[in-house]
Amino acid sequence: MSIGWKSFSLEEAIAKIDTAEGVTAELFDEKGEGDAKKILPYLRPYMAVLDFGAGIGRIAKHIAPSVDILFCYDPETSMCVYGRKWCHGLDNLVWLWKLDSIPENSLDFVYSFLTFQHIPFDDYMLDIKKIAYLMKSKAEGLFHYLYLDKEYPYHSYTVKNVVASLLPFFSLQKIMLDDCEPNRFFTVLVKRRG
Ligand SMILES: C[S@@+](CC[C@H](N)C(=O)[O-])C[C@H]1O[C@@H](n2cnc3c(N)ncnc32)[C@H](O)[C@@H]1O
Repeated sequence: MSIGWKSFSLEEAIAKIDTAEGVTAELFDEKGEGDAKKILPYLRPYMAVLDFGAGIGRIAKHIAPSVDILFCYDPETSMCVYGRKWCHGLDNLVWLWKLDSIPENSLDFVYSFLTFQHIPFDDYMLDIKKIAYLMKSKAEGLFHYLYLDKEYPYHSYTVKNVVASLLPFFSLQKIMLDDCEPNRFFTVLVKRRG
């Protein structure tokens, strides 16, 4: 399935994921490690984890050594192909462009970074429901959202809409605001209801 993220080289995939000017593979990797550090405190070595919208594994590469199995889901198959290259040598990564093969109630943790702004809100609501059904009771998740006060070619999320979308499935543990101009993000730590 192609959703407009088809890339022709690893470098092009990197430039599409990180749109900052002058991004190099080293900087891309450094930022991935920085984002992974926000997730690692919630993880344990026995865990089955899902990276939703994994891209080429910018973050996953730094998460995999700390967990049992890491599912990297991205509906853009070319991202999965480049992800295998970017994360070579990590044998507990499973690349998926569909979520069907993950059993219900099986995940210990789910995270998603820099992804929901590419998904229209109605589709996102269906994705959150799907994600929730894949998680074990009381499993935690860390979801990262972009909200915008300017015109951008992305979907903007508000804290109010996001809270309403999560509450049927999760209790909310923490909402963290992350102000980095010109884009503003917030991250929500959730716990699957029993
Ligand atoms: C900016 S990249 C972020 C990749 C990765 N999470 C990271 O932080 O490096 C956004 C990713 O979202 C994926 N994506 C787009 N639509 C999606 C959808 N409906 N569900 C899941 N992922 C999607 C794209 O293929 C792309 O790899």
